Amino acid sequence: MIRILHVTDPHLFADPDGSLRGTATQASLQRVLDHYRAGDWQADRAVITGDLIQDDSAEAYDRFRDLLLPLKMRMHCVPGNHDVRELMRKICCVPPFSYCAYEEIGDWLLIGLDSCVSGDPGGLLTTEELERLSDTVSRSDANHVMVCLHHPPVEMGSTWLDSVGLRNGDEFLQCVQSLGKVRLAVFGHVHQPYDAARDGIRILATPSTCRQFLPGSEKFAVDDRPPAYRRITLKSDGSFDTELVWVDAD
Ligand SMILES: [Fe+2]
Repeated sequence: MIRILHVTDPHLFADPDGSLRGTATQASLQRVLDHYRAGDWQADRAVITGDLIQDDSAEAYDRFRDLLLPLKMRMHCVPGNHDVRELMRKICCVPPFSYCAYEEIGDWLLIGLDSCVSGDPGGLLTTEELERLSDTVSRSDANHVMVCLHHPPVEMGSTWLDSVGLRNGDEFLQCVQSLGKVRLAVFGHVHQPYDAARDGIRILATPSTCRQFLPGSEKFAVDDRPPAYRRITLKSDGSFDTELVWVDAD
């Protein structure tokens, strides 16, 4: 069994007291990490699917590194639309972090994709990125694959969010279906939970470690739900268990 901790969209600032729509993002991420550490479910890897920072600053990435390092495990990171690739790479290309990387663990291959388009809150997987996915999966001896990206490859049923989703989600889904070994795709960006299956591939979103968005909303609206993280336990037969953990105040 391989246990994966999924945390996403921390939106940190250089200012430790910086807040996103009323939520102090550093304190909120810290609360999530403390909750994880206090539990008896211990992960082998962490996956962080983008929007690490909010204010384009190198200091916010330093803050991210310092907050996550105590987890003492390998951490797979992919960028979100709020990330600055060159600043993020300086932190996330240095172990124990990795950036849009792949790793074979037991029967599983984990791979992170870059779905970001500069200057665009919506996402797109380039032909090169889809080819990298196909090549990596085809070359791997692993029987099962978990894909990590920032943008949702499916519609969320929320007009404003669906206008900034993954513009070639259908192409991505066709690609992963044709590969035959992809069991799940996890993403962030939507700041709300999502759990569905498409042709046998599970598609999962985890809410943010800070402020959530209101599901099903036509226009932008925040939700009062607390921060969250997700536990995923990958099994050698290709099945997996997952549990969403909301971190209520106190
Ligand atoms: Fe976000």
